[in-house]
Amino acid sequence: MSGGGALRPGTVALVGAGPGNPELLTLRAYRLIQQADVLLYDNLVSPEIVAFAPASAERIYVGKSAGKHTLPQEAICRLLTIKAKDGLRVVRLKGGDPFVFGRGGEEMEALLANDISVEIVPGITAALGAAAGFGFPLTHRDHAQSCVFVTGHLKDSSIDLNWKALAQPNQTIVVYMGVTGLDIIARELQVAGLPGDTPAALIHKATWIDQAIYPTTLKQLVQTAEAHAVQPPTLLVIGSVVGLIRQVE
Ligand SMILES: C[S@@+](CC[C@H](N)C(=O)[O-])C[C@H]1O[C@@H](n2cnc3c(N)ncnc32)[C@H](O)[C@@H]1O
Repeated sequence: MSGGGALRPGTVALVGAGPGNPELLTLRAYRLIQQADVLLYDNLVSPEIVAFAPASAERIYVGKSAGKHTLPQEAICRLLTIKAKDGLRVVRLKGGDPFVFGRGGEEMEALLANDISVEIVPGITAALGAAAGFGFPLTHRDHAQSCVFVTGHLKDSSIDLNWKALAQPNQTIVVYMGVTGLDIIARELQVAGLPGDTPAALIHKATWIDQAIYPTTLKQLVQTAEAHAVQPPTLLVIGSVVGLIRQVE
């Protein structure tokens, strides 16, 4: 599944592009992008990273943002399969890590079902980029003994989380794709027992040049998001580690 050599014709590499800043790309990702005959990338991949591909490489934007799909997932899987069967070296670039809320699993399954070799290259997921970018450890032993990553957005636009399990003390919660469900998340966590004054932060475009952070509390979450007109891509982090936010280089 993972390699170190050249990308073979007819192979697909599912590559994590990291949270945005091109400097956070892995060396393997960088090398594979430079070997691509065709590059399929989504909207969370920065243009500087796409620019690492050879000028001759075909670049196909298959971006998705909440509710808006340039290409349906099945069509992306089909396109990857066709390009690989044409004997091309295919790089599928996905924001963050391909296996963290990235539907990389579905693409891998579709390719393997078509007898296409797949290499998976991990990327720095948004939560890690945000924590490093704003200087708060996701686990600090005085604050959190566990850290959970959850999605605030299901296929049918509902949110179905185990609120009791999330509302535990000494735990950091990171919510991906939570912007449209902030009211539900704030309400359900408080109903499940998390105090309204629990620190929280909305982190927009972590590691990008225009990254922004809006510290708040659980009970002020919706007002804070409205006051700053917060849009995706944004992470919601809840827990006392948020109080450790520092200005870091
Ligand atoms: C479809 S998920 C993809 C996650 C990605 N695979 C990863 O590992 O980071 C998209 C969501 O990830 C979060 N996200 C991705 N990049 C981000 C960034 N640079 N800053 C803040 N949130 C980000 C947002 O919640 C966004 O709505």
